[in-house]
Amino acid sequence: MSTELPSNKTIFSGIQPSGVLHIGNYLGAIQQWIALQDANDAIFCIVDEHAITVPYDPKTLPDRVLDVAATYIAAGIDPEKSIMFIQSHVSAHTELAWLLSTIAPYGNMSRMTQFKEKSKKLSSKDAISLALFSYPVLMAADILLYGTHVVPVGEDQKQHIELTRLLAERFNAQFGETFTIPEPYISQTSARIMSLADATKKMSKSDAEKSYIALTDSPSVIRKKIASAVTDTDTAFSFAKSGPAVKNLLAIYKAFSGKEEQEIEKEFEKKTYKEFKTALADTIIASLEPFQKKYNDIRSEDTELRLILGKGMHRAQGIANATLHQAKKNMGLI
Ligand code: TYM
Repeated sequence: MSTELPSNKTIFSGIQPSGVLHIGNYLGAIQQWIALQDANDAIFCIVDEHAITVPYDPKTLPDRVLDVAATYIAAGIDPEKSIMFIQSHVSAHTELAWLLSTIAPYGNMSRMTQFKEKSKKLSSKDAISLALFSYPVLMAADILLYGTHVVPVGEDQKQHIELTRLLAERFNAQFGETFTIPEPYISQTSARIMSLADATKKMSKSDAEKSYIALTDSPSVIRKKIASAVTDTDTAFSFAKSGPAVKNLLAIYKAFSGKEEQEIEKEFEKKTYKEFKTALADTIIASLEPFQKKYNDIRSEDTELRLILGKGMHRAQGIANATLHQAKKNMGLI
């Protein structure tokens, strides 16, 4: 993790409600959010309009949205302090996205790796929507509406934040100073948690279940998935020298245990993969236990959750509408 934590800044980030959340989402994003929320003004969004850019089930989407909201709170987001809201509740996001799309260079848009990867996974060319292509412009709007300084995300979102910066700079140059230029904030340890089944691919909720650990997985499922995680041919526990599969497991152990690298290397110096995996599973289970208890409590009764999201919507609208108003004025829209 970066040594210096930003303070007195505006922080913005979001997660798509497109399926079960996994430890990659937690270690790459949410864990950093929790570390940042006390000393900063933080805004956390559930980006439902991003989740509908690929085929999805409208019947289950409402539950997925509430799952993500409950995850935020159970993981430690304090809704009294930080703003938590649903993207589609603040129409300024899609409106600003349209305005920004007028200055989004087609060449840059065509180079977005997430678009290429997601397009490849879709069953036919017809399933690739214009919204999937323009997805990064909506993400730029999310960030720019709030005068965001810092965006805590995993490594895979870096390119989108670079595009956001480019759009903000272009807009400011063309229409006058309007947007703050945001910086990504990416953890050094857990920026890219890899798949348990294939250490060359990032852990992803759209891959096979055994390749990721869901935040809601039971202890026995966690043990099974860790036991079957791929390792490398020789047993060596080194953050610098182990192969990619073991490096990934070590990074997960470090992020959950909070221990130093040297301490971990020493701890497992004379141990087998089996012993390491048992310790790793124990650590993940123990870390997730309080989260899971809180999550189940929150998720069993929606009233409170919906109230929080309603309050968040009003607070977010206040900030977003003022920025949108200014952007429209600067663009010459009356
Ligand atoms: P999403 O929903 O795919 O993922 C949410 C967050 O989890 C991080 N992440 C990972 N980090 C480490 N290792 C992994 N294997 C891993 N998988 C996912 C992601 O980097 C992300 O931080 N486009 C965004 C959502 C978004 C957004 C925004 C984020 C929309 N608007 C504005 C920040 C600001 C996305 O698809 O995240």
